[in-house]
Amino acid sequence: MYCTRNVTDDIVWIGGNDRRLSVFEGVYKCPTGVSYNSYLIKDEKTALMDTVDKSVASVFFENLEHELDGRPLDYAVIQHMEPDHSATLAELVLRHPETTIVCNAKLLTMIKQYFDFDADSRVMVVKEGDALELGRRSLAFVMAPMVHWPEVMVSYEQTGGLLFSADAFGTFGAIDGALFADEVDFMRDCLDEARRYYCNIVGKYGPQVSALLKKASGLKINMILPLHGYVWRTGMGDILDKYVKWASYAPEEQAVAIAYASVYGNTANAAEILSCALRERGVKTYMYDVSMTSADYVIAAAFRCSHLVFASTTYNAGIFVRMEELLHDLAAHNIQNRTAAFIENGSWAATSGKLMRGLLEGCKNMTFIDRTVSLKSAVKPDQRGELLLLADEIASSFARPTASGRAAEAPGNIEAAAFNRLSYGLFVLTARDGDKLNGCIINTAQMLTDKPHRITVAVNKANLTHDMILKTGVFNVSVLTESVPMSVFEHFGFASGRDVHKFQSFADFDIASNGVPYITANTNAYFAAHVVAAADNGTHTLFTADVDEAAVLSNEPSVTYAYYFAHIKPKKPAPAEETGGWVCRICGFKYEGDTLPEGYECPICKHGPEDFDRVEPAAKPTGHKWVCDICGFEYEGDTLPADYTCPLCKHGPEDFRQVY
Ligand code: FEO
Repeated sequence: MYCTRNVTDDIVWIGGNDRRLSVFEGVYKCPTGVSYNSYLIKDEKTALMDTVDKSVASVFFENLEHELDGRPLDYAVIQHMEPDHSATLAELVLRHPETTIVCNAKLLTMIKQYFDFDADSRVMVVKEGDALELGRRSLAFVMAPMVHWPEVMVSYEQTGGLLFSADAFGTFGAIDGALFADEVDFMRDCLDEARRYYCNIVGKYGPQVSALLKKASGLKINMILPLHGYVWRTGMGDILDKYVKWASYAPEEQAVAIAYASVYGNTANAAEILSCALRERGVKTYMYDVSMTSADYVIAAAFRCSHLVFASTTYNAGIFVRMEELLHDLAAHNIQNRTAAFIENGSWAATSGKLMRGLLEGCKNMTFIDRTVSLKSAVKPDQRGELLLLADEIASSFARPTASGRAAEAPGNIEAAAFNRLSYGLFVLTARDGDKLNGCIINTAQMLTDKPHRITVAVNKANLTHDMILKTGVFNVSVLTESVPMSVFEHFGFASGRDVHKFQSFADFDIASNGVPYITANTNAYFAAHVVAAADNGTHTLFTADVDEAAVLSNEPSVTYAYYFAHIKPKKPAPAEETGGWVCRICGFKYEGDTLPEGYECPICKHGPEDFDRVEPAAKPTGHKWVCDICGFEYEGDTLPADYTCPLCKHGPEDFRQVY
């Protein structure tokens, strides 16, 4: 019997679930099954968006015939030729000889590789940007090579803003009748399987996924319809945020994933000692026995965590087989931007540490902790000490957040004022998310390389602009000049885009070709860029971005941080001591003195003592006051906490001046 669900009035999910599959692609365990999604668009023309795996062929064809209800199938759009989506294509053609297969040239080549039917006589070959009119709806095709195979394309339905995303945004797990991600608690219950799916299926192809995200960022997307897992119709920000991180190999979490291979438990013991020591140092750890946990789960953990520790016995003069598989797999999946450490064990010749490191040395941007702990059989007191030293080194290798979320306090040999000697410019950083335009002030825009034209910006995570860039992957930087008034800093720096619409009351902007605003007054240049990497730096994310557009707007000199302090920022007067006296309630004139003389007449409005009110002197403050030199926010208390962050402009204690 058919089993379908409506996506919209005229688009139906006609896929199926397989809960008997033990390993997907012959490798990846599927404890909760997998869904194979296929969608039928029922417009003036009918269009099938991919077929399904042969395991769910029976219900798929029942679904298709039920939903067609006797209508011809005009088009079968094939986006990906991996057989979990295309295995039923030959039967589809037999059942529906009237169908035109819509695909790109690479897909056509693969169709002929897999099948013997005459594909040429029934194919419509499309390329990037081509459109297929279905009536009310229209499909535009976007090439997405290596997400996950080279022939992949995705389809954008322009009327409804629907992205048929092929493998992208898929997840392991049967969908249990809940077609939409908002019908489950996705981030709590499904994110781990989405991550495991992403890292293992397309994790190797981060730049290609980033390229697809970049193309998608220019589209208004109301719904994402992947070939596995749930359809996204609301709250896509969270999963887009994860995709930006995964594609750029940015860790999601400042934590250590410890993977160990142990034959008789001694290497496991060393890993446990290290994990305990790290926990005692406030570092979060996760442990995996590679003999029990398959590599795909550990790979997902490695994509999630900032730090990795590998502990392995020496086996056949090499690395223990499961650990060797894991490390090969990690390198093959392009793991990068991580800090790694090693523990080796060997009763007569421990070599696994050097060999493990060697397998990861070809990965990009890896930091290796030099201390490799070497065990000879069981852990001895000296080696326990070595493990504690390794824990010290790992713990100090990343800025550990304190309870307030700020980095740990700098040791005493770092003078905070030294950082004020660095020179900075000042910029308006702008972003767009749908109709929402927003911007904030930053001092961290830098040119990184000339070829390609690549820049970096570091953005505080508390800023809405940060979240918008993380989600959309695009931003603009406008370079402020010395003519910029304080009001621009107040406008973009002292209020949050979550509370105000900064571009509703601001006229001096234009829109760049990426759809993001840039500032046209008191600026001398702007840059429009797309993110190629996002690195988590505790309080800030460092975005590396390639410039797509840049223009000079004026010849005025750029404003520097020093110029801002010297010439733009208003000087705060020292607070006057509040004295007692009498205030005229008619004109506000204040008579200083304890007693208002009999018959006194206000020198301003000429009213008499009956119109004066007594004001008592202000109580002498018992605590202290600091003023933020950036935005003027005042903090009162006994001490300014060392990890204090200004609630308005997010600057730290180094930018606060004590008033009393
Ligand atoms: Fe779901 Fe690449 O196939």
